[in-house]
Amino acid sequence: MTVKPEDDWVEVVASIPSMLEDNATAAVMEANIGADGFEIRDQGSFKKSQPGRVELVFVTRGRDVAALTQRIDQALAPVGLHTEITTVPAPESAWRDKWKEFFKVFYVTPRIVIVPSWEKHEPTTAEVVLNLDPGRAFGTGQHESTRLCLRALDAIETRGHAARRVLDVGCGSGILTVAALKLWPESRAVMLDVDVDSVRVAMENLQLNGLESRVRGETRALGKLAGKYDVVLANIQLDVLEGLLPELVARVERGGVLIMAGLLAGQEKLLEAQLGAMKAGREFAVWGRGAEGEWTALVLYRGK
Ligand SMILES: C[S@@+](CC[C@H](N)C(=O)[O-])C[C@H]1O[C@@H](n2cnc3c(N)ncnc32)[C@H](O)[C@@H]1O
Repeated sequence: MTVKPEDDWVEVVASIPSMLEDNATAAVMEANIGADGFEIRDQGSFKKSQPGRVELVFVTRGRDVAALTQRIDQALAPVGLHTEITTVPAPESAWRDKWKEFFKVFYVTPRIVIVPSWEKHEPTTAEVVLNLDPGRAFGTGQHESTRLCLRALDAIETRGHAARRVLDVGCGSGILTVAALKLWPESRAVMLDVDVDSVRVAMENLQLNGLESRVRGETRALGKLAGKYDVVLANIQLDVLEGLLPELVARVERGGVLIMAGLLAGQEKLLEAQLGAMKAGREFAVWGRGAEGEWTALVLYRGK
């Protein structure tokens, strides 16, 4: 199939046997594929894969599709012999908006409610409403790790934790920052992400909630940031958190809270052990642990 390379969105689809999903996903995550979006399609997705197979879908626009296909092929070569890679046009509106049908108003806690920007909702005065259009950034609230962070924020605010400065590392759609700024109306926040598009989307979401004057969004590395924060959030995967842990710890104010998520069950123990081996880490105590499905979050309190 001929695909016009410049302006049209295309999907480069690698179909693999289901049993190779974990290895194949790990292989493409490690390789620098350079697509604009990535999705794993299986039998549970709204666009289903073939039975017994899983599709790794790389969505892209304006890139060299042949080179992209080659990088996917190279990344998957060691994993399995039965990879089929096809390229199909994906008009932006078709793939971009389809998921919106499945994204409705929903409550993460009795008071925190997520409202997609295209849905209507009449909140009660007690509700903390997160208005959101995540676009292609991570963070709709539909992932367990995001929900664990939102529940942790709700819990620590309910227990009387005071926050004036919030840091959200790996902000994605900005969902956690929106929640924090609404839970603590006197607070200000810094959002960081390595992905420039995520920072842009996050700023748009902060604007959607009328919070843009209380936040700074940056692609700056955490190590280049100064200052201390009463709440530090990091919902990123284990290997990244392990690398960032000393810098995360350094940014937590005495009496402050560090919330880490994006961890599979059991991985929080590895971070706790790493923290215990750090001098500053001994000032932290576990305030709480959250779990949903195979995901966990760790909530740490830094003594005063
Ligand atoms: C799982 S998403 C979390 C998004 C959102 N905070 C949430 O809770 O739904 C992780 C985000 O971390 C970003 N990220 C990955 N490595 C990072 C790093 N070293 N520093 C900052 N952000 C990073 C990714 O681009 C992605 O937007």
